[in-house]
Amino acid sequence: MEPEVKLLDENKRRLDGRAVDELRPIKIEAGVLNRADGSAYLEWGGNKVLAAVYGPREAHPRHRQDPARALVQCRYNMAAFSVSDRKRPGPDRRSVEISKVVSEALGHVVFKEQFPRTSVDVFIEVLQAEAGTRCAGLTAAAVAMADAGIPMRDLVVSCAAGKADGTLLLDLGKEEDNLGEADLPVAIVPRTGEIVLLQMDGHLTPEELEKSLKSAIDACHKIYEIQKDALRRRYAVTAEHEDTPPPPEAPKPEEVEAPEPVVPETQEGE
Ligand code: CDP
Repeated sequence: MEPEVKLLDENKRRLDGRAVDELRPIKIEAGVLNRADGSAYLEWGGNKVLAAVYGPREAHPRHRQDPARALVQCRYNMAAFSVSDRKRPGPDRRSVEISKVVSEALGHVVFKEQFPRTSVDVFIEVLQAEAGTRCAGLTAAAVAMADAGIPMRDLVVSCAAGKADGTLLLDLGKEEDNLGEADLPVAIVPRTGEIVLLQMDGHLTPEELEKSLKSAIDACHKIYEIQKDALRRRYAVTAEHEDTPPPPEAPKPEEVEAPEPVVPETQEGE
């Protein structure tokens, strides 16, 4: 059946003008919240996401503490105003699922054994949603965890690929996600290549799955550079402040030279 909205034009350009293998623009800023131990703000196309991290701190409730390792607990939340139809506030099945898969993905890189009985608490607030919010939230949360100084093997980075209008596409936009045939969010640990999140909504052939997976992983490596750049900028600002020399001490009274007396020039004709 022909979709009502044509998702690709005759030149294989997408509704927002992107090529089939092109990412939406991504911007990340680390350290945007003063009260959290670490934080990040991310814009990815029309997605706007804040991530805040606390810990490692004593895990509560106490019966959930693990005597051998830290817990990594994430809460993903979409603001009521983040989508065009007001989203009912509070957790729903979808946000519980996303919180779980994101916690597990981030948990893979934390040196949890070093912090028994503690919890690393990760909060993801989606302020504006336009498809791919779990990838955006996870990517932002990894930067916020690094900003909080949580000991980690590496960052985690996430991107989705999928299929719409019979064509494999990278980083699905809103209409492509809603009307398309498949969505494949992926997250990796870039230094080792481990896949720490892999979900699939819809149908792909084995060959399409392989191609989409490769395309999402390649994109993850590009996004990894944006994450590292955000962290570098954050530290560069701190280092700049640390390098600023202290103001020179005020001279002692005896060292102060008496100023030359100012002799007013006599005006001609005086
Ligand atoms: O956001 P993500 O692609 O990770 O998850 P999804 O369940 O595939 O949702 C796709 C998109 O549907 C979201 O990014 C939102 O733009 C939209 N959505 C919505 O409009 N209202 C909701 N209650 C949930 C999602």
